[in-house]
Amino acid sequence: MWNPDLSDYNGPRYIAIADAMSDAIKSGELNDGDRLPTHRALADQLGVTVGTITRAYTEAERRGFVNARVGRGTFIATQHKQGQRFRITGETEPDAVDLRLNLPVAKDRAMVLSQSMAELAAEPEQMNRLLGYQPDSGLPEHREQAVSWLKQTGLHASAENIAITNGGQNAIMLALLALTRPGDMILSEAMTYPGFMAITHQLHLRPQPVAMDDEGVIPSAFEDACKQFSPRVLYCTPTLQNPTTAIMSESRREALADVARRYNVWILEDSVNSNLLPDAPAPLAEIAPDRVLHINSASKTLAAGLRVGWLVSPPDIKHLVSNALRASCWMTSPLLAEIASRWIASGLAQTLLDEQKYELEIRNRLLASYLAEFGLKYNLYSLHAWLELPDPWRSSDFITRADKQGVKVIGEDSFIVAQYRAPQAIRLSSSSAWSASHLEKGLKELAALLRQEPVPVLSVF
Ligand SMILES: Cc1ncc(COP(=O)(O)O)c(C=O)c1O
Repeated sequence: MWNPDLSDYNGPRYIAIADAMSDAIKSGELNDGDRLPTHRALADQLGVTVGTITRAYTEAERRGFVNARVGRGTFIATQHKQGQRFRITGETEPDAVDLRLNLPVAKDRAMVLSQSMAELAAEPEQMNRLLGYQPDSGLPEHREQAVSWLKQTGLHASAENIAITNGGQNAIMLALLALTRPGDMILSEAMTYPGFMAITHQLHLRPQPVAMDDEGVIPSAFEDACKQFSPRVLYCTPTLQNPTTAIMSESRREALADVARRYNVWILEDSVNSNLLPDAPAPLAEIAPDRVLHINSASKTLAAGLRVGWLVSPPDIKHLVSNALRASCWMTSPLLAEIASRWIASGLAQTLLDEQKYELEIRNRLLASYLAEFGLKYNLYSLHAWLELPDPWRSSDFITRADKQGVKVIGEDSFIVAQYRAPQAIRLSSSSAWSASHLEKGLKELAALLRQEPVPVLSVF
């Protein structure tokens, strides 16, 4: 329980408590979604009146640090410090089973990288070319390789509409730099990839959640939001949605494209997980190439450290993407794009992808064998799965209890857009465990925990 030491804080006590809370958030002592003590409990601890705590929490709410949820308590606000919320979690204890990150299954890439580098070392002319300035969107041959990699997901893009980016995150940023201005309304799935929210925060955009179901964004909710907010863009992940794993049917994709056309809204389709899924439905960008910007990346399939991604834009706006690219970094490193392109051209990328799929299948079967009975949403080829917790579990309690058992997971709070009221749930990235057997160790703990009743949190009124 948070127990601030107020001896270094001057001024009225309620301000001192709000200041201490601000410092605790900065230092990481308090984190997004943490529940604060009840008014009575903190008043007793600090030797102040309940009224002082109420004023302190009201002040913290005014400053945007906390959200009070009627009947549930006061929590550190999830929308606070969006930029910092989106980060790689720190070192974990050596034995902990860490299921928090959506990484590809760790594989030895050193060997394949040294082979590509040795090949390049034997081509000094090409090396020198790659070490010079190149066109902002990337070398033509790199964009041609991207065409063939994207074809695997059902997208038939033309090389001149592709920009090579510094990964998927950079592609989202470039698309939003190209299409929006500060203050614009922007729509997304009600729960989405936190990196997207970090960007909306940096660009001073106003994100609005759109209701979703088992297929992702609901077209009628999208249409209602278009009427209400006149947004510029809808960001969504139709295939293996992060965090819910939802996959949109083809008819749902057509319905979304239809709404986007009627309301003149751009769709930013995040497709970073699509290569993993065999027989994924046609991408939105295939259905509505005039309205959709399409993102893919080498991170989830080949290697995140390559920082290579691809952004396919409708021809009318590709110059805006080029402008954003030049303004931010001139171009993505041609050297890294060359390595990714060689891997694609030689068939090595396909081999690495197949390895990922093979490993994911083993891990996700394990996941299902332990957790399917609790309503787990999963896909054999997904990096992550989604579990809505059985009543009366709350995700914050579950995460704390799991942590005590050496298993690290994250809850719905990390994915909520604005004030969306999400179910109590956790995301489990089977891919981020060290090995299948280590994963199994964690799953046993989680299943055992789910069979227990949560211990009620002591509240004093
Ligand atoms: C849905 C989604 N989009 C984009 C990204 C960013 O990928 P990259 O590493 O290529 O920047 C991620 C990474 O977790 C993601 O889950």
